[in-house]
Amino acid sequence: MSTPRLGYPNLGFGVGLRAAHYPHILKQKPDVDWFEIISENYIDSQGRPRSVLDQIAERYPLVMHGVSLSIGSTDPLDFDYLEKLKRLAAEINAVWVSDHLCWTGVAGLNAHDLLPIPLNEQTLAHVSERIRVVQDVLERPIVLENPSSYVTFAASTISEWEFLARMAEESGCGLLLDVNNIYVSCYNHDLDPLEYLRGVPHDRVVQFHLAGHTNRGTHIIDTHDGHVIDRVWELYREAYRLTGGCSTLLEWDANIPDFPVLHAEVLKARRFIDTEAGTAESITVTSDNEWEAPPTETSVPHPLTFINADVE
Ligand SMILES: [Fe+2]
Repeated sequence: MSTPRLGYPNLGFGVGLRAAHYPHILKQKPDVDWFEIISENYIDSQGRPRSVLDQIAERYPLVMHGVSLSIGSTDPLDFDYLEKLKRLAAEINAVWVSDHLCWTGVAGLNAHDLLPIPLNEQTLAHVSERIRVVQDVLERPIVLENPSSYVTFAASTISEWEFLARMAEESGCGLLLDVNNIYVSCYNHDLDPLEYLRGVPHDRVVQFHLAGHTNRGTHIIDTHDGHVIDRVWELYREAYRLTGGCSTLLEWDANIPDFPVLHAEVLKARRFIDTEAGTAESITVTSDNEWEAPPTETSVPHPLTFINADVE
């Protein structure tokens, strides 16, 4: 049996570091457990962002979360990028380095999005081999996040949770379980989020993500623009119980509130996991596939408009 969480610690309850909060963090030194940074915001920066980051690194544990690894692409891995990741990780003493199970471009073109991959034996072998190469360069296990998705592929033959399990087994990587992404993808593809949650290898989960989303009725868009909904909190509680507890991180990337609001949102997590003391808050979920009621109106565009402008 492998070491739980690959030996990575439970850092507690953290938030994503965003530039809008630099002044508050530097001045108020909030009592947050840890921060997750977007790696690309700092690997080529020696200016103010990097200066701020160095100050924050002196006080808080940091984890690096990237968006450019493109582990699922058929383009060659970018070794220059990997060396930059490795250097930054060493300089800020990053506890671990994560990215997404996705591809972000092909043939040298960057889609600037985290695109899902077909899930089958061929892609499993492809991704697992690339993870091993990345880990050899970085000299540490990496951690990969389940994507939110709006389409599935006719070429897929494996469930996403089985793919994650086998990918972790074959490559030795850890998993970043985005509980909101599980909810979003399961809603969009009519799957059972509890079956997903129970199907992943719990001892390989290093970290959780929580975030808000936008429900358009026919589909949910992963907007990270608001509070975590009750159904996702409920899933999180189950995820926390199944894994024995992992580092928990709140993402909030649009309509970003003041830092205290952000911090208070992630601290809500404690209300849902304090089962030992018997004080965990109860949210009634009447069936595994009961979804929240969608709002009647929103201005968020359909996620597939970049392919077809007529999609509604
Ligand atoms: Fe996430």
